[in-house]
Amino acid sequence: MAANPRTFTDVQRTVLSSHKGSTIEDKMSFYDGWSELYEQDVMCLDYQAPLLAAESLAAVMLEDRDQALILDIACGTGLVAVQLQRLGFCNFHGMDGSEGMLELARSKSVYQTLQKCILDTESLPASSDSYDAVVIVGALSEGQVPYTVLLELHRVTKPGGFVCMTTRTNTSNQLYKKQLQAVMEEMEQKGLWERVKVQEVEHWEKATSVHETEQDSEYISGMICIYRKSRSQD
Ligand SMILES: C[S@@+](CC[C@H](N)C(=O)[O-])C[C@H]1O[C@@H](n2cnc3c(N)ncnc32)[C@H](O)[C@@H]1O
Repeated sequence: MAANPRTFTDVQRTVLSSHKGSTIEDKMSFYDGWSELYEQDVMCLDYQAPLLAAESLAAVMLEDRDQALILDIACGTGLVAVQLQRLGFCNFHGMDGSEGMLELARSKSVYQTLQKCILDTESLPASSDSYDAVVIVGALSEGQVPYTVLLELHRVTKPGGFVCMTTRTNTSNQLYKKQLQAVMEEMEQKGLWERVKVQEVEHWEKATSVHETEQDSEYISGMICIYRKSRSQD
């Protein structure tokens, strides 16, 4: 435990400062600067996404977890892989745009490979049909990873493999969430994947702004979505 534990107000200030920059470079330098305190701070926010996403994925991947190859996109310091490892998964590749966050992930020795990569409208640096599951947790929101990345998540997943995504469903992320859901549904209608699970979670993490809370709860809500890539793309 750190000698000087951070207060909720410290964390609030840090998270609110992340909204100041307008470019992806600003966002990445925010995460570089936050990396050392990230895990301590998200614990203070009671951030449940890595645990919930890992448990949801494990609930649909019942067999051969130790053989499965998982791509953790926007992996941060590695919280998702640590949870998945606890559930029997062993093989992880990670990608993130922040060198500071990647350094922390590297120190955990959980990932076989870690790559610095900005997720925008470009292709992911990975071959098609490579992963048994692709996860992206805590990064699908306004100002972070564009929802257009979904086609790339689908491309690099093996036929029959899973894509596990989370997003916040609080007030400030409503427009992004709608656009994300529209893309997911369009991809389903095109037969690219099928919906396995979409679950809203009320207590996602503590709100850092009163404008985000609903019905006097101190928490904001979030959502876990799992889709399964079709085996045939005919
Ligand atoms: C809230 S953290 C989540 C990290 C981890 N998945 C977790 O749940 O703890 C968001 C991560 O997404 C990364 N990120 C955000 N936008 C990105 C982008 N456009 N390209 C690459 N990485 C991005 C940040 O560097 C950060 O590590």
